Amino acid sequence: MLTNSLKYIQNKLNGLIPDTALILGSGLDGVSKAIKDPVCLNYADIPDFPQTTVAGHKGRFAVGSIGSHTVICMEGRFHLYEGIAPQLISEIISLLAALGVKKMIITNAAGSLTTDMPAGSLMLIKDHINFSGRNPLIGPHDEPYFPDMSNAYDSSCRQDIKKLAAQMQIELFEGVYLMALGPNYETPSEVRLFRMFGADAVGMSTVPEVIAAVHKNIKVLAFSVISNLGTGLTTEVQNHNDVLAQVEKSSQKLEKLIKTYLQQS
Ligand code: HPA
Repeated sequence: MLTNSLKYIQNKLNGLIPDTALILGSGLDGVSKAIKDPVCLNYADIPDFPQTTVAGHKGRFAVGSIGSHTVICMEGRFHLYEGIAPQLISEIISLLAALGVKKMIITNAAGSLTTDMPAGSLMLIKDHINFSGRNPLIGPHDEPYFPDMSNAYDSSCRQDIKKLAAQMQIELFEGVYLMALGPNYETPSEVRLFRMFGADAVGMSTVPEVIAAVHKNIKVLAFSVISNLGTGLTTEVQNHNDVLAQVEKSSQKLEKLIKTYLQQS
């Protein structure tokens, strides 16, 4: 447990109890601008807290209100490909749970595994395939030892967000996210395999956080911004700068959707 980190954050929050955590992917931190008078805490200043190393990530918490919610926003997340232990992700989620978080909204950039869902699309994640070969709950952990994953991406939250997206005329695909460990992009053969597995999008994040959140009884709502077609589905080669550029183009509609959801729920 990140006890020193927890004490430091609680002290800085001065009685604020966040009910919702936002974990935002590369270039997707615009929702945090909707937080009123945020308290910002740099990861670097938090005792024992790990540091992020990826371009496009700020590396801080922003805490404050959106609508009737107190949210804690992680601007910058941790990826297993950075070399961090999966258990650390579980410790961060436990810290959020200890702060009071009951719901988590996660965003990421992902590659599409079908040309029917082109770059620029938004996908609500309805389920995942953990292809990372890692698990944040390995080792001693609290009960339940074997958490159920049948409703990991909470179906009633998904119904609400689909209704809202329709009202706002925002096209929202719904699909299965497969996590690859990375940091390399997939080979064309891997993309074909993942499609056969039944996945709709592939990325390098989110799954560890979701497993840890489900274990802590936190409800999860997760979205992918489709930044590119999977390797081999187009003649283009994969490149992180192109991914970030596409995310920037498509991020606003997702930000609007999440903001409105928080303001109305
Ligand atoms: N593969 C894996 N992760 C990604 C991709 C991809 O094509 N695009 C954005 N993140």
